[in-house]
Amino acid sequence: MSAPEAAAKPEVHKGLEGVIASETTISEVDGKNCQLIYRGYHIDELVGRTTYEEVSYLLLFGALPARGQLADWTTQLEAHRTLEPEILAFLRSLPRRSSSMARLRSAISLLGVHDPDGDSDELDTMRRQSVRVIAKTVSLVATIARLEAGQEPLPPKRGLSQAATFLYLLHGREADALEVQALDAYFVLLAEHGLNASTFAARTVMGTKSDYYSAITAAIGTLKGPLHGAANSKAMEMLEEIGTPDNVVGYVQKTLADHKRFMGFGHRVYKGADPRAKHLRALAEQLGRAHQDLKWFDISTKLQEAVWQAKQLYINVDFYSASLLHYLNIPTPLFTAMFACARMAGWSANILEQASDNRLIRPLASYVGPRDLRFVPLDQRR
Ligand code: CMC
Repeated sequence: MSAPEAAAKPEVHKGLEGVIASETTISEVDGKNCQLIYRGYHIDELVGRTTYEEVSYLLLFGALPARGQLADWTTQLEAHRTLEPEILAFLRSLPRRSSSMARLRSAISLLGVHDPDGDSDELDTMRRQSVRVIAKTVSLVATIARLEAGQEPLPPKRGLSQAATFLYLLHGREADALEVQALDAYFVLLAEHGLNASTFAARTVMGTKSDYYSAITAAIGTLKGPLHGAANSKAMEMLEEIGTPDNVVGYVQKTLADHKRFMGFGHRVYKGADPRAKHLRALAEQLGRAHQDLKWFDISTKLQEAVWQAKQLYINVDFYSASLLHYLNIPTPLFTAMFACARMAGWSANILEQASDNRLIRPLASYVGPRDLRFVPLDQRR
């Protein structure tokens, strides 16, 4: 390539790394200083002091709710948690071999089909759809798990929070206060995270003036990948493969020798510690102590240390999510759908923000394939 040609070559930001694609007032992911801020509040301010109900309201409406607003919001969420007979029948009809994320994606799509305003891109309509879908997702995920385990789905109980409802619907008994508090904090910590891949997918769909359900469906499909949300279940599989703290060092050496990745480590944006990880670690330890089973926590801390020694990699949000969710007796194949339960608030807020100040999302690609080829008729091609 000649010097002028090289100079004219456009700069390509593979994976859109470092590209700022929009302004937002929903959250700030400060990779340099390793901070996460929701609508102006550092997550350290919120976690343990607010509920997912308050944080989902904050993300959607821009301010923490006053008492009356929270009561109204909670009532709306409760009212939407019951799954309609056609949704239950659909979930029952799905093949056992399909993953919980594939089922959740299909169920959300079906919610859109049954919503008479399912194709609308009106802000008020999509606000109503956000409440409906945030509320229903915990019921959907717990129902998917019960059907998978050959158990009958349960109807939601009045007076329980999102987190308490999920644990009740999954286990068929009300969870204790620590379990509810841990899952609630998990939901708060994973509720929103800037222009991550799934949120970007949701905004891209909304950018075409499609509809709320299509945007959420695309987000679920994106979260499903192991480099994104499925890293939490892969991290648990990794802990199970290690099996005991004594095997950690050998596992690290083998993984490095095989050039494989440690799931729950590394981050595209954070250049240091993921600000959510310390909270999840503390919650996992609390649950482990309460259950008198620190095995998974011990393997995790040893692995965190060994990977740091070997490769200076920081853990990300998914690492201690794994032991936390495991201590809550949530089956590993359900972990990514748990992430979706939490992120539903952030996705919804981003869909609304995109719709309220829309610009079609349409990046460019730098073409590097062949040029000036001549057409060859079919019977002359080899
Ligand atoms: N294990 C081993 N090496 C790693 C890892 C890891 N988990 N993460 C990054 N690296 C290495 C990678 O091999 C590369 O090294 P080298 O330059 O020597 O080849 C270097 O770090 C940079 O990696 P990269 O893939 O270019 O970085 P990225 O910004 O594209 O990747 C990531 C970010 C999250 C995809 C990656 O860290 C990863 O694959 N992690 C494991 C999966 C995971 O935990 N995903 C959850 C992400 S955070 C929450 C979420 O979105 O759900």
